[in-house]
Amino acid sequence: MHAEYAIIGGTGVYDPAMLQDAERHTIETPYGTAEVTLGTYAGKRVAFMPRHGYKHSVAPHKINYRANIRALKQLGVHTVLATAAVGSLKKELAPGDLVLVNDFLDMTKSRPQTFYEGAPEGVVHIDMTDAYCGRIRSHLAAVAEGQNIAVKQDGVYVTTEGPRFETPAEIRLYAAWGGDVVGMTSVPEVILAKESEMCYATVAMVTNYCTGISAHPLTHQEVVDTMKENVQKIRELFFHAIES
Ligand code: HPA
Repeated sequence: MHAEYAIIGGTGVYDPAMLQDAERHTIETPYGTAEVTLGTYAGKRVAFMPRHGYKHSVAPHKINYRANIRALKQLGVHTVLATAAVGSLKKELAPGDLVLVNDFLDMTKSRPQTFYEGAPEGVVHIDMTDAYCGRIRSHLAAVAEGQNIAVKQDGVYVTTEGPRFETPAEIRLYAAWGGDVVGMTSVPEVILAKESEMCYATVAMVTNYCTGISAHPLTHQEVVDTMKENVQKIRELFFHAIES
């Protein structure tokens, strides 16, 4: 079993559509098991991993991020393209917009965040200057331009613990701190990918304005519905990026 690229599908992206000869596998790792679909696109081996499970049954704070990322590493993956549904902290980032994330703020509380917890792996303090891999971000930006897919360059992803949505006061704070979008999964996924020396990028889809900015109370259904209407853009972007 082998793959060069991985697509991690967030909320609303459960379907490995476009992969040829797709086969589901359960990968064993020292951290537990992970589910992937392995297939081929444009001659490249691609692993598809639905972050919340194929039926969206795993809550953000319960995802086994270490098993997921270690499984991709074991498969030989060098580049990870992740999707994420996010709320917007800014009027100018509207539902349906895509954002190429380049940094994060970490508001998570209960998640194992590292492979390096002391012996036997040791203690390692990983550099976060370029948390989201610059090489693949530049490539995604170029592909998006070539394909006429509008993507906002650079965005700070505030990762909350969830699964609840935020309060209006929290949203005011995150906006004042320089956040652009809010979601529940980028941390620790991006950190674990960095520790694993894989090139990892997140293309976030704005599914709603955040609490207090939105004119109405948020529902998960709103997130799923906006994702569904716009998911084809992310698919095209990712598959063109893998192809070229
Ligand atoms: N907050 C947190 N996570 C989210 C949101 C939000 O508004 N929308 C989609 N995921």
